[in-house]
Amino acid sequence: MANMILETQDLHKQFGDNHAVQGISFGILEGEVFSLLGPNGAGKTTTISMLSCLLTPTSGDATIGGHSVRQEPQAVKQLIGVVPQEIALYATLTARENLVFWGQMYGMGGAALRQRVDEVLETVGLKDRAKERIETFSGGMKRRINIGVGLLHRPRLVFMDEPTVGIDPQSRRNILDMVQALNEQGMTVLYTTHYMEEAQELSNRIGIIDHGKLIALGTLAELTRMVGQEDVVELGIDAEHSSPELVAALGQVAGVRQALAENGTVRLVVADGNAALPELMLVTNQMNVRVTNVAIQEPNLEAVFLHLTGRALRD
Ligand SMILES: Nc1ncnc2c1ncn2[C@@H]1O[C@H](COP(=O)(O)OP(=O)(O)O)[C@@H](O)[C@H]1O
Ligand SMILES: [Mg+2]
Repeated sequence: MANMILETQDLHKQFGDNHAVQGISFGILEGEVFSLLGPNGAGKTTTISMLSCLLTPTSGDATIGGHSVRQEPQAVKQLIGVVPQEIALYATLTARENLVFWGQMYGMGGAALRQRVDEVLETVGLKDRAKERIETFSGGMKRRINIGVGLLHRPRLVFMDEPTVGIDPQSRRNILDMVQALNEQGMTVLYTTHYMEEAQELSNRIGIIDHGKLIALGTLAELTRMVGQEDVVELGIDAEHSSPELVAALGQVAGVRQALAENGTVRLVVADGNAALPELMLVTNQMNVRVTNVAIQEPNLEAVFLHLTGRALRD
């Protein structure tokens, strides 16, 4: 079983009357991508700031690699890389100069730092732009250098706070691929976003945060099942094969709640589409019906958020 690399215990942060974070507890397993998904103002950045030892919790604590963010910030900082929401780069320095500068801030230097800067430029896909000034970079390229800064000291755990906001689709794709590649190389990632598609694509587990509270936590499948959502399985079939007998037989398959035929498509409402699929295919085979197309529409996190809060994620 994987170890918990991070654990938070009832974290609170109050700014005057504003209870920005109201008792957050969760754990992150070594090797996973964990996303905090929530709308603007939910408390994502405040949580990340406490976990990075930049803000002191009003109450509660968190441990990273067993070290308390309150008691042992130096040990914590060794383990984590932080990619802040706000870009922290010097516009008039080149990409390489920025990385060298930040590496020195982490106490790195000499040939080891130069080599690491090269590796990081390679990782973020900007080696060929190393000698250009940051002010000539697109928003997406700046974001990638910003991520590079967070990776310099080879952290075991990296925090990425909304790294794709306000950039073009290609850069966004680039960053999502980078997160996946880093994770495959063994990096644990805490990712925050208000885009449910990103949380859905990247995460092993997702915590949904709203008004400073974790309102749900689990894998995508657990979260969507929690609200009693069902999958819709669509089977494309030759129109002449679409008989009431076929629809009735498919309707008898375990887990199927509803079966309807319409213009060469049988639409089935199913508790778990993937689980029901083998038997659905068996039934069509037995009835000599050729299935031309299969689509499973899984419920999404937008629906979960709506169910839990009565609001849309992007309000
Ligand atoms: N330094 C601060 N001083 C006062 N209020 C703050 C501060 N930082 C954040 N807040 C407030 O805390 C709440 C959570 O903000 P934040 O953590 O930035 O949310 P998110 O990152 O999810 O958008 C918001 O109401 C925000 O206005
Ligand atoms: Mg934020």
